[in-house]
Amino acid sequence: MYILGNWKDKLDVNSSADLASRIATKVSKKYLNMEIVLFPDDVSLAKVSSIFESSPIIKIGAQDGPLEETGTLTGSIAVSNISRFCDYVILGHSERRSKLYETDEIVAKKAAVASSLGLTPVICVSKGNASNTDLYQEIKNQIVAIPRRILNQGELLIAYEPIDAIGSGLPANPKSVEETTQFIHEMISSLVPSISIPVLYGGSVDAENVTSYLPLKGVDGVLVGGASLVADSFLSIVEKASYIEQAR
Ligand code: PGA
Repeated sequence: MYILGNWKDKLDVNSSADLASRIATKVSKKYLNMEIVLFPDDVSLAKVSSIFESSPIIKIGAQDGPLEETGTLTGSIAVSNISRFCDYVILGHSERRSKLYETDEIVAKKAAVASSLGLTPVICVSKGNASNTDLYQEIKNQIVAIPRRILNQGELLIAYEPIDAIGSGLPANPKSVEETTQFIHEMISSLVPSISIPVLYGGSVDAENVTSYLPLKGVDGVLVGGASLVADSFLSIVEKASYIEQAR
């Protein structure tokens, strides 16, 4: 089970270090049955990763990845930095797709670079609006665009994040999350039959509602934004997830 904390651009380096230290003092070995990953902003990566350097429990990821390995892109994180500090990278978050016009092709290129650097991409997908004849078309396009080599290796996560649920305090209906995540699993099985890829839900997940999502068939974890910014609420999500995982 995967519990991912996406800190977005909400914390400066001191607040990031403070939050990381609070989490570090409270994580326990009983959480080794899960994969817990924190995603600070790029400036805070080095500091936060040093706090968890010897932790077998918490991993670190970046909120976006480089487009190229060649080091000629102004504004990009250096490949050597992302390899040094991260195990995971979020790609194609809907905020980047909508505000920075990141296309499926860009996400695919970044996924290829991440994978060749040994990072696990967390590829975010979202469903189109209700006026679409095929509600799943956008998700299909986003998944088909993932390089087949990466799907074949199975070294990635998919995060289903309905746009209306992100940062709104209006989490998606668990039934629709179950249907959509199962659709994603089926689609992946049709593309790469012998591979199982974890599918997470994200969008206004908090310590109260997480128990409505983690037991769902097809949901292998959660990507948490706002509720991951406070140590106690994030750790409460982790604690509940740990119980659910033990009961599986
Ligand atoms: P949220 O963010 O939990 O604040 O809705 C989730 C995300 O954007 O990854």
